[in-house]
Amino acid sequence: MPGNVDITVPHAARIYDYALGGDHHLEVDREFWERAKKLMPSAEVLARANRAFLGRAVRWLTSAGVTQFLDIGSGIPTIGNVHEVAQEANPEAKVMYVDIDPIAVEQSRSLLRGNPRARVIEGDLRRPESVIYHPDVLDLLDFAQPLAVLTVAVWHFVPDAAKPAEIITKIGDALVKDSYLVLSHLGHDPTPAGQEEQARVVKLYENTPTPATIRSAEEVAALIGPGFEILEPGVTAVSDWFADPEDADDPRTPTGLGAVARKR
Ligand SMILES: C[S@@+](CC[C@H](N)C(=O)[O-])C[C@H]1O[C@@H](n2cnc3c(N)ncnc32)[C@H](O)[C@@H]1O
Repeated sequence: MPGNVDITVPHAARIYDYALGGDHHLEVDREFWERAKKLMPSAEVLARANRAFLGRAVRWLTSAGVTQFLDIGSGIPTIGNVHEVAQEANPEAKVMYVDIDPIAVEQSRSLLRGNPRARVIEGDLRRPESVIYHPDVLDLLDFAQPLAVLTVAVWHFVPDAAKPAEIITKIGDALVKDSYLVLSHLGHDPTPAGQEEQARVVKLYENTPTPATIRSAEEVAALIGPGFEILEPGVTAVSDWFADPEDADDPRTPTGLGAVARKR
């Protein structure tokens, strides 16, 4: 366990790992998730649908020719990690993982040992320059060539006070044309009962290091801003984003929003 981890409070990375059936979580995280699921039974489907969206987006990007990925808020390695999906499509693909959680970083480092094209650093999306201009990032990724920045299920942990739209502008400024931004975000449940459930879970997150903010599809589109063109089908439910309608196992949910945008 890294020395700077507070094991008395639940952490988003470990909660999500538990939600997805991973191995790296503590009692506080398990208790948190069990409470969250009672308050919002759709939470589990949402976590799985989000992860499935991440995999489809990475496959879509590799087929669009993207070979470099900067995955910020990457989480604890679990099923369908970005480097596995990307390098299966193209063994030359390079992936830089970034997370604020030392456990996520430690687990990623151990998984990536022996993979010269995938690395990890500890970093904070709220300070994008410290990520983009980190020596390890500049060593692995070539910002003179197109790359994809993945920010999946992380923006709802960036409050308005941290100016998320400005962060996206700064990220866009570092990218060349034809680079991509992928994001997913906790959105509002369409039903009043669902919204009440969500409000209770948001309250739970107030006791974690990363309180959560729900945003609408319009607010998410506004965050992405004019520097990027949001590609079809727009900001949509993650489970609808190029989902296979034939795949009955694909978890369906209206509350996770996702989008892929291309740098203008
Ligand atoms: C729900 S997990 C998402 C993991 C992965 N991106 C996915 O969608 O499968 C959110 C991750 O964002 C990380 N995170 C939260 N705030 C962050 C920040 N300001 N900078 C970097 N990572 C952050 C958490 O530690 C956690 O690992």
